[in-house]
Amino acid sequence: MDISSYKPYLSQETMMGPNSVRILAELFDKHPLQPAADDLILDLGCGTGLTSLVIAKETGAKVYANDLWISAEENGKRFAQWGVGKQITPICEDANHLHFEKKQFHALVSIDSYHYFAGREGFFQEKILPFMKDGGVVLIGIPGVKDAYTDRGEELLSDWLGEEAYMLKSPTHWEELIGSHDRIETVKTWEMDCFRKAWSEWFATNNVFACGDKQYFETIIEPYTCFVGIYVKLK
Ligand SMILES: C[S@@+](CC[C@H](N)C(=O)[O-])C[C@H]1O[C@@H](n2cnc3c(N)ncnc32)[C@H](O)[C@@H]1O
Repeated sequence: MDISSYKPYLSQETMMGPNSVRILAELFDKHPLQPAADDLILDLGCGTGLTSLVIAKETGAKVYANDLWISAEENGKRFAQWGVGKQITPICEDANHLHFEKKQFHALVSIDSYHYFAGREGFFQEKILPFMKDGGVVLIGIPGVKDAYTDRGEELLSDWLGEEAYMLKSPTHWEELIGSHDRIETVKTWEMDCFRKAWSEWFATNNVFACGDKQYFETIIEPYTCFVGIYVKLK
């Protein structure tokens, strides 16, 4: 996927962390989605909807853009400005209490957000699986610790992340947390390649949070962390 066409949409206002468009592009390159014309894709924890825009443009599918901190009204205005108001439906719900129809989504995408709400065994089976169609696909890209530091997130990252350090888990740990189910065919997790570029594009915004992260890049973020890619294929 060529991400250069999305550059005009990346700004201090729309970015909420390491370049989510780059992270999504790596997932799409590795595991392309092939939705039919009437298929629905859920962007879970979409933030300001940058990734929802990319999903809509790249797949042509209808997208439900769900987030908790950003209101549906705010995202709806942005989607209208971007000319995708008819293709993307903004929703504001907690991922723990979603109200979609059962077996509604061909695919679920979640960039830099799944770790906030899904880090426990059974979450995928209880909160995600019911809404996924048979044969569906889940693509997740989130910050985590490298496999070499599995279970050491709190110890190694708390100077940077404080009480949120526990949320960052290794690829191996995420594979265990997603777990198994008779509807799950495959679960793959890995350390993603886009780490350095996605972080440097975040630092280039000079956003106050980006400046805060930058202080810890050499001492904590780069040595101990990675982006975890997660691919789940359903039967
Ligand atoms: C760091 S931002 C990333 C946003 C966007 N995906 C991106 O990469 O730019 C994390 C997002 O996770 C969302 N989030 C956190 N907890 C959530 C929950 N319980 N349900 C739904 N979304 C949640 C927040 O609303 C926030 O927008």
